[in-house]
Order: sequence, then C-alpha cells, then structure tokens
Amino acid sequence: MLLGKQRVVFFGGKGGVGKTTLAAAYAIAAADAGTRTLLVSTDPAHSTSDILEDALGPEPREVVTALWAMEIDPATEADRYVADVKARIQDTVPPRLWQEVERQIDVARVSPGAQEAALFERVARIMEDEGSRFDRIVFDTAPTGQTLQLLSLPELMQAWMSGLIGRRKKLNAVTRMWRNVGGTAERRNGGPDDLVLAALEERQARFVRARATLTDAAQTVFHFVVLPERLPILETQRAMATLDKYAIPVGTVYVNRVLPTHAEGAFLERRRERERTYLDQIAATFARHRVVHVPLQGHDVVGVTALRELARMMGDDGRR
Ligand SMILES: Nc1ncnc2c1ncn2[C@@H]1O[C@H](COP(=O)(O)OP(=O)(O)OP(=O)(O)O)[C@@H](O)[C@H]1O
Ligand SMILES: [Mg+2]
Repeated sequence: MLLGKQRVVFFGGKGGVGKTTLAAAYAIAAADAGTRTLLVSTDPAHSTSDILEDALGPEPREVVTALWAMEIDPATEADRYVADVKARIQDTVPPRLWQEVERQIDVARVSPGAQEAALFERVARIMEDEGSRFDRIVFDTAPTGQTLQLLSLPELMQAWMSGLIGRRKKLNAVTRMWRNVGGTAERRNGGPDDLVLAALEERQARFVRARATLTDAAQTVFHFVVLPERLPILETQRAMATLDKYAIPVGTVYVNRVLPTHAEGAFLERRRERERTYLDQIAATFARHRVVHVPLQGHDVVGVTALRELARMMGDDGRR
C-alpha cells in the first residue's frame, strides 16, 4: 500500500461505504511499516472497537505493535466543551446574568454544529498534543456532511473569535480607564493578566494552527472511500469540491467492494457490467486523483488478520 509521507490522514465518504474498515486497514499497514500510528475514531457506534476486537476508550491504547487506537464520543466531547464554557462564565459576566447565560448555553449545546465544534476542538488538540508521540495520526471521520462542516469551522470560528477578542480588548481598555479614575484594582478583568482574554486567544491560536496543518499538503491528506454506485459517486464529488474550496489536500479515491475478477456466474456477470459503467465514471470524474480498487470480500472484515489481508489489496492501482 502507498502510505504517503503525511502525518495526518483522514478517511471520508458517504455513510456505510467502508471508511472505518479502510482507515483501520491503513493504520495497521502503517504500523507494520514501522511508523508509530494512532487511529482515532469519532463514531459513537464503536465500530472501531468492533473491528479491532478491542474495547477502545477516549485515550490511546496499544492494539498491536506500533498501533494505538482511541474512540472519542461526539456527545461526551460536547458535554465537556459546555462544562468548560460554563466554568469560564463566572469570569466574563456579572452574577445576575449567570442563570440566563447558562440557559442559553444549554440551548446551544443541542443546536446544530455544537457537536462538530466540540469535536473539531478535540481533533485539533489531538493533532497537536499527540503529534510528538506518534509519526502518523489516522482519523476515521464521521460521514461526509458533518465532516465537512467540521473542517470548514476554523474560518467561521476565527471570524467569531476575532469579534470576541476585539470586544474583550475594548472592555479591558474601559476597565483600565475606570481603574485609573477610581483607583481600584480589579485583577480578574482587564490588564495583562486577563484570564478570559488569554483563553480566547489560546483557542483562536489553536484553530489557526489546525487550519494551517489541514491545508498543508506536506502534513495532511484526505482519502475518500466510494462505492461503484451512483449516489456515493455524486456525494464524493460534492465533498471533494468543498475540500477544494477550503484548500484541504485530497489523496487517493478508494473504490471499495469492487467485484473480484474470479467471481463467476451469469448474475455476477450482469452486476459486473453495471459496475464497469460506474468504474469508468469514477475514473473520468476523479481523473486528477489516484484511484485504487478494493475487492469485495466474501466475509465481514473483522480482526487484525482480515484487516492486514485487506490492506494488501489496497495497494493495487485500480485500473483492471
Ligand atoms: N471490501 C469489503 N468487502 C466486504 N465487506 C466490506 C468491505 N469493506 C467494508 N465491508 C463491510 O461493510 C460494512 C460497513 O463498513 P464500515 O463500517 O467500514 O463503513 P463506514 O463507512 O465506516 O460506515 P459508517 O458511515 O456507518 O461509519 C462492515 O460490515 C464491513 O465489514
Ligand atoms: Mg464508520
């Protein structure tokens, strides 16, 4: 398998096409090649635990030599994020408003995009914090729509946070003025030791760094998994256009569950003809990218041995 040099590797694609399976196979191949690899899943259904036959949690755990894996739960991440924000409220707003602001945060917690924001924060942290411990981090991302929303967030976040930071600085200027007038020292708000401002700036800086990593083709690559079927092709095309828009580098298109050449019979022959049309369409649509065919297996792909076997088939250039 062509592993590439990038240290951050994403697998994306429509629901159910084989992202978790191929991400795990890729991660095992990377570990077998001697690179310390971390596989990160954000799937609340624990499918990575299932196929690696190991109970994974929110911290990296060694599964086979040189391969660590972890599962982060989007809902738990969102809860943690909210708790963190609530803890900071006491520094930012007067006590009489706490209840109202907490209520608004609870509403925000269940609003669209909240889980993605929390998840993105975690992904950004993992890219940074685990970067020194591992040679390569493989993300088995959530299905396409959410993933893209997630990847597009740094820009939204940045605009939003610049606003917050700007307001905070203005407030500080006013506070300083009052302090000079009244001669009182209010240490938590304003001044160079402003904890809230520091936290906001730290968060913004992290997003900027994450964005820089995500758009750097030397560090990051986004692989797609697609099936030789109409809808997955369309969805991948759309997803790729969005990644292009955000300048996130796209690598290989893995066409999964391609009928193996040795499969015989009149029924399969008819299926193969249909498949041929879609494979041609894929070759034309994704002509700028490396396309690899991964054959349909006769069994479920579960366990390290089966994943290793599949990884070996992920190397062939797909043009049969
Ligand atoms: N090449 C293959 N041959 C046979 N079965 C496969 C192949 N690739 C994946 N599968 C099976 O297809 C099912 C779905 O795969 P997987 O869970 O990897 O998809 P996914 O894209 O991660 O799904 P989701 O979007 O729900 O996370 C699994 O049962 C897996 O074993
Ligand atoms: Mg999955």
